[in-house]
Amino acid sequence: MNRTDAINVRPMTMADIPALARFLAQDPLWRRYNVSEKKARLALEAASCDGEELYIAVVDGQPAGLIWFLHQGTFGRSGYIRLIGVLPQFRGRGVGTRLMATAEVIIGRKAGSVFLLTSDFNEGAQAFYRRLGYR
Ligand SMILES: CC(C)(COP(=O)(O)OP(=O)(O)OC[C@H]1O[C@@H](n2cnc3c(N)ncnc32)[C@H](O)[C@@H]1OP(=O)(O)O)[C@@H](O)C(=O)NCCC(=O)NCCS
Repeated sequence: MNRTDAINVRPMTMADIPALARFLAQDPLWRRYNVSEKKARLALEAASCDGEELYIAVVDGQPAGLIWFLHQGTFGRSGYIRLIGVLPQFRGRGVGTRLMATAEVIIGRKAGSVFLLTSDFNEGAQAFYRRLGYR
């Protein structure tokens, strides 16, 4: 069985937001940027109302991760991955790869490339992006 078989990626709904906001507020990466549960919830609600692209990965009925991206974020030239996160208990199972693949397909309909940023200290994310072919 492929390790990605049980991963379902679908558009995020408002009902998904509380669990995702709780995850972001608890994760060390976003805690470092003072993201509280309330801030995360408001940001996801606002992005959703603005029609920005937000997708959730679900594994065994549980939220496993999210990706938030824009079609034309980089001076109107490239799609932009604004945020990707996988809940700790689901990492290393291909969830992040599936979320990135979803974004790349949707961005690819309108833009020819994908742009993203990651922090210098975030070596795990750098390895993840390199593994997917990003430079
Ligand atoms: C980065 C992140 C999204 C990766 O998600 P994931 O579901 O664990 O990634 P995958 O299982 O799809 O991994 C794909 C490949 O990337 C590599 N990879 C993923 N995380 C890695 C890490 N922390 N260190 C080294 N390599 C890593 C894996 O080796 C894997 O390669 P493989 O297919 O040869 O096994 C996840 O670890 C996460 O949410 N991290 C915290 C938040 C974060 O840093 N977000 C990015 C901000 S820029």
